[in-house]
Amino acid sequence: MTNKKFMSRFLVKDTAKHIGEKVRVCGWVNSRRAHGKILFIDLRDISGVLQVVFVPSNKEVYDLAETLRPEWVVEIVGQIVKRPENMVNAKIETGQVEMSVESLKVLNESKTLPLSIETDGYEIGEETRMKYRYLDLRRERMKNNLIARHKVIKFIRDFLDKENFTEIETPILTKSTPEGARDYIVPSRLNAGKFYALPQSPQQYKQLLMAAGLEKYFQIAKCLRDEDPRGDRQPEFTQLDLEMSFVEQEDIMDLTERLLILIVKNLFPNKKIQEIPFPRISYKDTMAKYKTDRPDLRKDKKDKDLLAFCWIIDFPFFEKTDEGGWTFTHNPFSAAKQEFDTDLLDKKNIDKILTSQYDVALNGFEIGGGSVRNHRPEGLQKVFEIMGYKKEIIQEKFGHMIEAFKYGTPPHGGIAWGLDRFFALLLNEPNIREVIAFPKTGDGRDFMMQTPSEVDKKQLEELHIKISNTKKPEKK
Ligand code: AMO
Repeated sequence: MTNKKFMSRFLVKDTAKHIGEKVRVCGWVNSRRAHGKILFIDLRDISGVLQVVFVPSNKEVYDLAETLRPEWVVEIVGQIVKRPENMVNAKIETGQVEMSVESLKVLNESKTLPLSIETDGYEIGEETRMKYRYLDLRRERMKNNLIARHKVIKFIRDFLDKENFTEIETPILTKSTPEGARDYIVPSRLNAGKFYALPQSPQQYKQLLMAAGLEKYFQIAKCLRDEDPRGDRQPEFTQLDLEMSFVEQEDIMDLTERLLILIVKNLFPNKKIQEIPFPRISYKDTMAKYKTDRPDLRKDKKDKDLLAFCWIIDFPFFEKTDEGGWTFTHNPFSAAKQEFDTDLLDKKNIDKILTSQYDVALNGFEIGGGSVRNHRPEGLQKVFEIMGYKKEIIQEKFGHMIEAFKYGTPPHGGIAWGLDRFFALLLNEPNIREVIAFPKTGDGRDFMMQTPSEVDKKQLEELHIKISNTKKPEKK
């Protein structure tokens, strides 16, 4: 038996389809105004805003309504009626209707907010926005950004599922991966003096999943890099990470390109992709012509709806270090382009070796990168030898990869997209912090949670750690 008294909650945007019916709505008092004796409230929920009308004849409810203030949380039961012709608001979904109130319940009160949530918020200082991020996210723009982010991720998941990918989670407590940035490290209580590293990317695990025969892997993966944050860089960010077996460069580029185009066409139909297929430019040419490996190819830079994707290929595998040795330019796990395979194995013409690395750039930002990998143990071993690593170090740091490649690891390759950068560009945001629910500030702090913060002496002791210096490192 259903409880006859129970009325299910209506979302505000759905009320317009129920003229004449009695419904229950819940949400926040967006604003309150009086027209003579009549009191109007704009009630806001996740779906929109509804005009709610209180009249003095319903005295008890009217008196309570007079106490309401912005951002109080209320539950209201009433009848949905058509608005008088001169009161119709064509700009909102519920603009044809209003609610004539029967009962009102206050679910929670609110202090005056420390920041305005009516504007787009760019004018408010970062410290205030970050300290009260949960209020900052109430603004329409931020809410819409998070919903759009969800829709793109869902689209990606559905697409890859149809393409027979398996979504697999990989560890957060792991071992340092040389991705070019500094690691965040975590002390081990059970293994005194030893540390985990937080993953800069799931690179090694996804390759080991190919060794495991999973063939097509993806993950919406958190990556952590101890770098100085800036507009397009956060210490903690999200990748669409994927890897496929028995593929060549062309397969991965084709899949990436198809998915990027489908996302834009289905979810951002107002955007125009400048050129399909995406142009491909060699590293040498882009450096000669644009002096950057992430050129902004837009023909009209004033058009905010123009997306100019391009691929950058044929990167040099190695570059000289300041000390005169060699280091990788992108990813030590990449294979050399086929024609340079022998040079890599013979450790010859190192400066001429090109890697199978491909980057995808959009409007001047690098939004993704990947490569075909070295799936044979000799190849990977040679990369580390060229970089001057001693045999014991190679064994200690990468022995598990070299060992795995000795048990029938298939040829494989993949890519990772920087999702935050991609969303910021799709949503015309100047900064990736605008598309992340709880980002860190420019100096890596979270003002809301007040972190990083000190920990108890006892916690440090358990972790076998002594703090010797609390001076801030100088910024480069
Ligand atoms: P890479 O290091 O190029 O490749 O990272 C892939 C993409 O991630 C984005 N990105 C970032 N976004 C926000 N903040 C950061 N700090 C940040 N760092 C990188 C960029 C970049 O293109 N394992 C390889 C991928 C692979 O080869 O499959 C990797 O992580 O958009």
